[in-house]
Formats: sequence, C-alpha cells, structure tokens
Amino acid sequence: MWQREGGRRAVGARLVRLLLALAAVATESAAGIPRRYTPDWPSLDSRPLPGWFDEAKFGVFVHWGVFSVPAWGSEWFWWHWQGERLPQYQRFMRDNYPPGFSYADFGPQFTARFFDPDRWADLFLAAGAKYVVLTTKHHEGFTNWPSPVSWNWNSKDVGPHRDLVGELGAAVRKRNIRYGLYHSLLEWFHPLYLLDKKNGFKTQHFVSAKTMPELYDLVNSYKPDLIWSDGEWECPDTYWNSTSFLSWLYNDSPVKDEVVVNDRWGQNCSCHHGGYYNCQDKYSPHSLPDHKWEMCTSVDRMSWGYRRDMTMSAIASEFEIISELVQTVSLGGNYLLNIGPTKDGLIVPIFQERLLAVGSWLQVNGEAIYASRPWREQYEKNTTSVWYTSKESAVYAIFLHWPDNGVLVLTYPITSSTTKVTMLGIEGELKWTTEYSVGLLISLPQLPPSALPVKFAWTVKLTDVK
Ligand SMILES: *[C@@H]1O[C@H](CO)[C@@H](O)[C@H](O)[C@H]1NC(C)=O
Ligand SMILES: *[C@@H]1O[C@H](CO)[C@@H](O)[C@H](O)[C@H]1NC(C)=O
Ligand SMILES: *[C@@H]1O[C@H](CO)[C@@H](O)[C@H](O)[C@H]1NC(C)=O
Repeated sequence: MWQREGGRRAVGARLVRLLLALAAVATESAAGIPRRYTPDWPSLDSRPLPGWFDEAKFGVFVHWGVFSVPAWGSEWFWWHWQGERLPQYQRFMRDNYPPGFSYADFGPQFTARFFDPDRWADLFLAAGAKYVVLTTKHHEGFTNWPSPVSWNWNSKDVGPHRDLVGELGAAVRKRNIRYGLYHSLLEWFHPLYLLDKKNGFKTQHFVSAKTMPELYDLVNSYKPDLIWSDGEWECPDTYWNSTSFLSWLYNDSPVKDEVVVNDRWGQNCSCHHGGYYNCQDKYSPHSLPDHKWEMCTSVDRMSWGYRRDMTMSAIASEFEIISELVQTVSLGGNYLLNIGPTKDGLIVPIFQERLLAVGSWLQVNGEAIYASRPWREQYEKNTTSVWYTSKESAVYAIFLHWPDNGVLVLTYPITSSTTKVTMLGIEGELKWTTEYSVGLLISLPQLPPSALPVKFAWTVKLTDVK
C-alpha cells in the first residue's frame, strides 16, 4: 500500500531501492551466483519454470495406495465410508468384510505382489510419456516409501514391504523419463491433523511432525523432477508453511535447478501461486492462458484409483483422450493422464490399451506436440476440430475429423510462394491452393483408411506460412 506522508521523497527512495535491487540481481547473475528466493509468493512466483516441463507435454499419473485394496467407488473410499458414512459404503463393508474390519486392515492386503517397475516403465515409455507422477501418499496417509514418521503405515512395514517410490523412480529414470511425486498435504484421519483442525489451524502439530519431515525426506531421498502437491484446500498456506518449504526447494535443495511444482499449496493458491497451474482437476480453459498449466484427467472418468466396479461407459475412448491431448497442447498446457494399478501391482489391459494408443499416435504426430509452442491462433474458426501448434518455422494443424470432400480448409495461415504442405506419416507434399475469402484449401491424400498413418487426428505441417 502507498504511504501518503513523505510523498515524493518516499517514492524516490523506493525507486532507488528498486534500482539497487535490480543491480544486485544483475551483478549476482553476472557473477554466476544464483539468485535467492524469499518465502513469499511474489518472490517464489517470479522463478522461471524449468524448461523441460513445457517441452514434455505428456505425462502419466499413477494413483496407487491402500485404496487399491477395497478398489471400489474411488480412492476416496475411506472418507466416503467413515468420514461421510455414505449408506452404499456401509452396505459394501457389511456385505464383503467381517464385522469390525477397519481401514487399517486393508493395509496388509496391499501386497504389490506382481509389481514389476521395469514393466510399468516400459509401458509408460511406449505411451510416449516424458514424465510420470506417482502418489507417494494420498489423503489416507499411507506412504509408498519407508517414511520414518509414518509408523506402521508405510509400504516397508506393511503390505508390499518394499520402497515403491524408489523402485519406480529407478525404472523410470533408466528410460530418461522425468519423475514426479504426488503428495497430499492433509491426511483425513491423522490425530495431529484432527487436533490442529479442532484448534482452528492455529497450531501446526501435524505440519511439524508429519507434512514437513516427509516433504523434505521425499526431496532428499528421491530428488524428484516435479512435486505434485494436493490436499491443501482446508487451510491457508501459512498453516502448511508452504512458502518456507518452497524457498528451500528453490534455493538449497538438491533439485533446485530442475524441479517443477504445481499450485496446490494452500487455500486459494491454486490458479494463483506456485509453479505451473492445475487449477481444478480436469481444468480445461477455452482460450490461451498466460501462465503454464497442466490438465490432469483419468482414463476412468469416475475414479483415479483402480476400482473393481469400473464399467466400459466410464472409460474415455482413444478419440476423447487424443482430442484432449491435442486441445491441451494447442492451448499451451501439458496433459497428465491417470491410470490406477491394482493392489497386486498390475495395470489392467484397458489402461494399457489407452496408453499404448496415445503412444502410437505420438509416434507419428509427436513432432507437432513435444517441445511445440502455441501458435498465434489455437483453433480454426467456428470449429473445435482443427487445432494449431508451432515449432520454429513450422505450423501444425491437427484435424480430428477427415473432411467429407477430402479438402481441409484453413482460414488463418497466410501462404507465400515457398509454402510447403505435408502430412506427418505420409511421404511427399500435398497439393494446395488459396481461395479469396475462404483461405487455404489442402487436398488430402486419397488413400484407403488402412494406409493412413493414424485413425483420427491427422497433422498437416505447413512451412513458410505466417
Ligand atoms: C515454518 O517455517 C519457519 C521458517 O522457516 C520455521 O521457523 C518454522 O519452524 C516452520 N514451522 C513448521 C511447523 O514447520
Ligand atoms: C479463500 O477464499 C474464500 C472465498 O473467497 C474466502 O472466504 C477465504 O477466506 C479465503 N481464504 C484465504 C486463506 O485467503
Ligand atoms: C463462422 O460463423 C459465423 C457466425 O456464425 C459466420 O458468419 C461465418 O461465415 C462462419 N465462418 C466460416 C469460415 O464458416
């Protein structure tokens, strides 16, 4: 806020301070001394996002935990059962488990018996993913690594008796895929969290005994490329001490130069503060945002964790998934697609099939996706079925549906005598012409469907266009 007294002198002094600060930044960077971030949003928000994230474009999200044991409804099972006491969950427990069976009793059944991290990582590689994000701890509080502050509620002491976070990380990195860690700040039923809640979050017992030790442990032990924070919504960032953690992460942690974070660090932070923005789950803007963002969504539209009651009607089709990927990337976002493995560590074939479909589409069209930038227009006039991306001197138009007359009409690109038009996955140039007040007319190759490189969402590449 501007002070009234002092007037011009105060403004002058402020200006001098600002210039000195800028000079200090310039000198520091000139001397190769990295700048330091202070634990407040203006400073933390000014950190440039490490470049790898925008280039990656596509990642796989993995929701895995004790909720994969009941595997019914969703990963919010415990909350629906004993937080909200929904009748269908009471019935499910009554019908399928002995009286007195507690949520903790699911722990030993989370065996991960057939978990082969190399097979998962091969699948994610074949899907074309450039990063993988695993739930290290969901709102249930069970840690998928041997956390020293999660006594008897971690994957080393209970269930798998393995370090799931470490094992998947090693397998993923062997394949040059970046590794991200999902972490829930809150735990629904942790006694210290409930105590802080009772105190109106004026105390921070849970944060000092659990949240912070675990976040630091995760960073120091696994050196993540990304921290996908969640479970922030009940309390302000001052309760979570988020800015203090983030300033350490950016200044002094072993991943300070490459690490990327999202925006869920306290009430009202999401879409405003942090690294890139997730905003809400499945967020999908209609025009180009001015901040890097990510759309996270799940192949099973009704759940992030594996559920045995999954039906085909809830499964996103290959067309829906690839359309979302294309739209997201055109609008400057990354696409993080979720699957939920079973309690014994298997990824069911329907999830494999969807991931592999993205992979084969990217094999042909990846040039228009990876490391691309939004173009000056994001989609063609009056339609949401033609999307643009760009890279260096090339403009890519990805069209989801094949036009009936075999002619693709693009109104935005301005051609020149040296313009060339090709289709990714097809040899040779395509014929084109322009028509006054219509635009660029591209004659698509006349091929039988079996000879086309993909089944939908083909890419034409334009060079020397404006
Ligand atoms: C929060 O951060 C401050 C500053 O780094 C620190 O002094 C304090 O102990 C932290 N509190 C908790 C609960 O972590
Ligand atoms: C967050 O926003 C809501 C609604 O605008 C407001 O009631 C609440 O006080 C805000 N919380 C914080 C921590 O700023
Ligand atoms: C787009 O829609 C507007 C309004 O409906 C119409 O006037 C215009 O001719 C359409 N443009 C094209 C290229 O179809």
